[in-house]
Amino acid sequence: MNALKNVPVHVSIIMDGNGRWARERGLERAAGHIEGVESVRACTEAAVEYGVKYLSLYAFSEENWGRPQEEVNALMALMFKSMMAELSNFMDNGIRFVVLGHRERLGDELNSVINDCMEKTKENKTLTLVIFLSYSGKWDILQAAKKFAGEILAHPDRSAELLSMDTDGFDRYLVTDGIPDPDLIIRTSGEMRMSNYLLWQAAYSELLFSDVLWPDFRKQEFLSALQLYSKRDRRYGKVK
Ligand code: FPP
Repeated sequence: MNALKNVPVHVSIIMDGNGRWARERGLERAAGHIEGVESVRACTEAAVEYGVKYLSLYAFSEENWGRPQEEVNALMALMFKSMMAELSNFMDNGIRFVVLGHRERLGDELNSVINDCMEKTKENKTLTLVIFLSYSGKWDILQAAKKFAGEILAHPDRSAELLSMDTDGFDRYLVTDGIPDPDLIIRTSGEMRMSNYLLWQAAYSELLFSDVLWPDFRKQEFLSALQLYSKRDRRYGKVK
C-alpha cells in the first residue's frame, strides 16, 4: 500500500555515475549507460506506482557533446533504441513522453522517433516522463530571453505590457512551459552540483544527493528519496 505522505508532483533526476559503475566492473563506459536504462525503467515504474505526476531525467547536457565522439554516438543510439522499444510500454501505462532541449542538435533520425513518441503519447495522463536531451539551464534561459526580445520587436505597441511581466510570466518562454517546477531534484553518485541543469526552475526545489551510482538506483532508492522528501519542511523563503 502507498502510505507515503506529501508525494512530490515533480521529481527530477540528474543521472550520474554510469561511467564509474562500468569502470568498477572492468567494462566500457557504454555498459554503464546500457544498465542505466534499466534504472530509467525502474524509476518510471516506481513514479507511476507512488503517484508522482512528472518524472524528468537529465539524460544529455549541452556540455556532453564534448565527450569522445564514440561515447556520444553510443548514447544517441541508446536513446533511439530505448524510445523505439518503450513506446508500447508508454501507451500501456498512460505515460506521456516529452523530450526537451536543443533539439536542432539531435539527428533527423532521433528527432523523428522523438516526434513519433511525443505525438502518440500526448493524451496520456498517468505520468509525464520528460527527458532533457541536449539541454542546459543557461541555454534555456538564453533562448527564452531571445524569444521574449523577439516578441517585443514584433509587437512594439505591446512593449510596455510585455516589459511589465513578472517571473511567472517568463516561465512560458522556457522549454519547460506547462510543466511544474521540480519539487525534488535527486543527483546520484555522490556528486553535489547542479551541472547547468534546471537553473531557473530549481529556485525552490528540494535537493537530495545520493551516493548510489545511477545504474544501481532502482525502486528502493527511489522510494527512499520520496520518504526523505516527505520529511522536508518547505517554506519558500517565508516563515511558517
Ligand atoms: C552520467 O553518467 C550519465 C549520462 C551522461 C547519460 C545518462 C543516459 C542514460 C542512462 C540513457 C538514458 C536513456 C533514456 C531513454 C532516457 P557519467 O557517464 O557522467 O558517469 P561518470 O560520472 O561515472 O563518468
